[in-house]
Amino acid sequence: MLTAARVLLEEAFDGDWSPDDWEHSLGGVHAIAYEGDELVGHAAVVQRRLLHGGRALRAGYVEGVGVRADQRRRGHAAAMMEALERVVRGAYDLGALGATDAAASLYAGRGWQRWRGPTSALTPAGIRRTEDGDGAIYVLPGAVALDLDGELACDWRDGDVW
Ligand SMILES: CC(C)(COP(=O)(O)OP(=O)(O)OC[C@H]1O[C@@H](n2cnc3c(N)ncnc32)[C@H](O)[C@@H]1OP(=O)(O)O)[C@@H](O)C(=O)NCCC(=O)NCCS
Repeated sequence: MLTAARVLLEEAFDGDWSPDDWEHSLGGVHAIAYEGDELVGHAAVVQRRLLHGGRALRAGYVEGVGVRADQRRRGHAAAMMEALERVVRGAYDLGALGATDAAASLYAGRGWQRWRGPTSALTPAGIRRTEDGDGAIYVLPGAVALDLDGELACDWRDGDVW
């Protein structure tokens, strides 16, 4: 399944998909969509730490959301997100993800909220701003109070940090 999912994501992201992106999708819970016996969609949630309001929040971070081009607009992504949101609500302080422009309305329509404040990453050299992340991060609030205009910093990793 994982090999098929990796191939699917390379195609779904039309080449804009790196080995780091795939690595970021591993180690958590996968949601997959099938049409018959063909894998047509993948999404995953992995654990990360997000710093906000003086706390290191346990985040269910959604990665690797992709649906085969000829199978889009049929609700596959929504169904996978519904499954992952159950995982997030059951096990994490909040959900978070970095949205592509094409997918932002999908997440917003499901109750994910755009982070309005400045984003940063906890790099080996200390906290550094991540302007590229500003406006592209969506969160699914849980029990922990969030100030969407406040600062949000993610833990460090190779490749795209958000
Ligand atoms: C973004 C992506 C995952 C969406 O997958 P999808 O399976 O088409 O998503 P859904 O079908 O659940 O929803 C997509 C849209 O189709 C609509 N839709 C769902 N079922 C539908 C149906 N039967 N008829 C018409 N429209 C429908 C949804 O309302 C949604 O509309 P919105 O974008 O205005 O919110 C897919 O386009 C993709 O793989 N894109 C490239 C990779 C990418 O950008 N991934 C996101 C990374 S953050």
